[in-house]
Amino acid sequence: MPDSQFRPTYAEINLDAVRHNFRLIKDAAGSATELLAIVKADAYGHSAVEVSRVLAAEGASLLVVAMVEEAIELRQAGIEQPILVMGAVWPGQETYYLEYKLTPYLFDIETARRLDTYCKSAGTVCPYHLKVDTGMGRLGVPFESITEALESLSQLKSLRMEGVMTHFALADEPEERLTDLQVERFRSVLEAVRDAGFDPRYIHAANSAGIFTRELPECNLARPGIALYGGWPSHHFEHLNLVQVMSLRTRIAKIKTVPTGAGVSYGHKFRADRPTRVATLPVGYADGYNRLLTNRGEALVRGQRVPVIGTVCMDWIMLDVTDVDGVAVGDEVTLLGNDQQGNVIRAEEWAAKIGTINYEVFCGISKRVPRVFLTTRIKPGSDLI
Ligand SMILES: Cc1ncc(COP(=O)(O)O)c(C=O)c1O
Repeated sequence: MPDSQFRPTYAEINLDAVRHNFRLIKDAAGSATELLAIVKADAYGHSAVEVSRVLAAEGASLLVVAMVEEAIELRQAGIEQPILVMGAVWPGQETYYLEYKLTPYLFDIETARRLDTYCKSAGTVCPYHLKVDTGMGRLGVPFESITEALESLSQLKSLRMEGVMTHFALADEPEERLTDLQVERFRSVLEAVRDAGFDPRYIHAANSAGIFTRELPECNLARPGIALYGGWPSHHFEHLNLVQVMSLRTRIAKIKTVPTGAGVSYGHKFRADRPTRVATLPVGYADGYNRLLTNRGEALVRGQRVPVIGTVCMDWIMLDVTDVDGVAVGDEVTLLGNDQQGNVIRAEEWAAKIGTINYEVFCGISKRVPRVFLTTRIKPGSDLI
C-alpha cells in the first residue's frame, strides 16, 4: 500500500489477474463465445466498479448483479455495459429498470405481468432473461410448466425475451448426473421456447464449474463468477491456472517476547510452550478475518509461514514470529494471497479451516478494508502471471 496516514491493512486487488482469468475462461467456454461476468456482491468483495471496467475492456458482453442498488452503483460510475439483475423485481423498482436500462431475470409470471403493465404505461418495451428451474430448486419457472409460462409471456407485449437461462446445482462435482439431467431438461425448454415463437438472442447455463466441465453447444453465453476472481469452484478444479485476485495484507504493529507459560489474547487459548516472540497485527474479525481462524490461521512474514496464535479479536490478531530472522515492527504481512517471495495462501485454505467456501472468504472481507488496485506487477496484455 502506498504510504498513508491510515491503518496499513488493505486488500490488494490484482486487476491483471482478473484479465488473465477472464481469458482463461473465454478459451474454455467453447461455443459460448460471449461472457456474462458476475460482479454481484461488489464483485465477490473485489470492488464491482473497478473489476467491471476491466471486464468490459476485456470484452465481457454483459455484467450481472444481484440487486438494483448494485446496478445503479455501476451506472453512476459510468459503466455502460448491459447489466442483468438476478434478484427479484420488487414492487416499486420497475422505474429503475427503465431509468438505468437494466435487464431483469424473470422467474415468475406475476412479476412479468406487473413489469409489463408498468412498461406499457411508460410506453416502452423492457428486455428480460427468462430463468427456468431445471433442478436447482431455488428460483425459476419450473421446467415442467414452461409451456403455460410461455403462453402467458407471449401476451405481454411490453416485454421482450432477450435470453433464456438455467442454473446448475451441482456442476462443481464434475461427475454428477444431475447436471446432465438439467442439460436435457434445458434442451426441451429451448424447444418449447422456439415452438412458442420466441427467438431469444442469448442462451446460457454454465457457471464457472460448468464452463470447465461441459460442452453446451446450445449456449452462446457463459456466466462465470468465482473463476474470474481466481477461485476454484471446488477441489476438482485445482489444476486450473486461475490466479487469485485478492491478497489481504497488513503490517506488524508491535512485537514482544513472552515467557514459557504466558497466555495470549482473550481466553488464553494459546499458551507459550517456549519463550515466544509475538507479533500483533491490526486486523481482526471486523475486517473479515474469521474468528474461527483462532489458533488455526497462518500468515506470510519475510517469506515464511507462521501461525496465528490465540483468539482472533475484533481488530487484532497475533502471530508467533519466534523463528523469523530479523522480524521487525512495520514488516508487511500477507494473510491471504501471494507474497513477494512467491508463497501463496489461497482462499480455499482459509475456507477449509473454517468450514466454508472460498466465495464466502472473499465476500467476507469487510467494507472497512480498503481495496487497493494493482496493475503493475504484470504488464497489461501479458498472458501469464
Ligand atoms: C445464477 C447464477 N449464475 C452464475 C453464478 C456464478 O457462479 P460461480 O461463481 O460458481 O461461477 C451464480 C453465482 O451465484 C449464479 O447465482
